[in-house]
Amino acid sequence: MHVRPIDPSTATVTVNFHLEDPEALTGRAEDDVTVKGAKGQNLLEVALMNGINVEHACGGVCACSTCHIYLESGGQNVSEATEAEEDRVEEAPGLQRNSRLSCQCVIQGDGPITLRVPSWNRNAVKEVPH
Ligand code: FES
Repeated sequence: MHVRPIDPSTATVTVNFHLEDPEALTGRAEDDVTVKGAKGQNLLEVALMNGINVEHACGGVCACSTCHIYLESGGQNVSEATEAEEDRVEEAPGLQRNSRLSCQCVIQGDGPITLRVPSWNRNAVKEVPH
């Protein structure tokens, strides 16, 4: 997926990632990663730009559910889920009330935002046919 470049000076929103399987996502053992995102970026872009390889089978166009994350706090700082997103996210394994598709969560507020990337994020892609 092409990650749109941003002006680093606009990356002022704190985004905390809790990684249940950090080795698989980053190749490192660190499971709490705090980075900065910019308004207008979605959370998938923020992850990929910072070396957190959240799955994104459809390339971020709301046509799969592989970028599923749990939005733990700061939800008021991202765009609300559309009907299309809600329909898609229902297909994700491990659905919870705070389930979102990271490619559809566009940063709109000043943060902070905290999300969790479940450990089955990677395996789901290989095991669930689409
Ligand atoms: Fe496919 Fe987000 S990458 S819905």
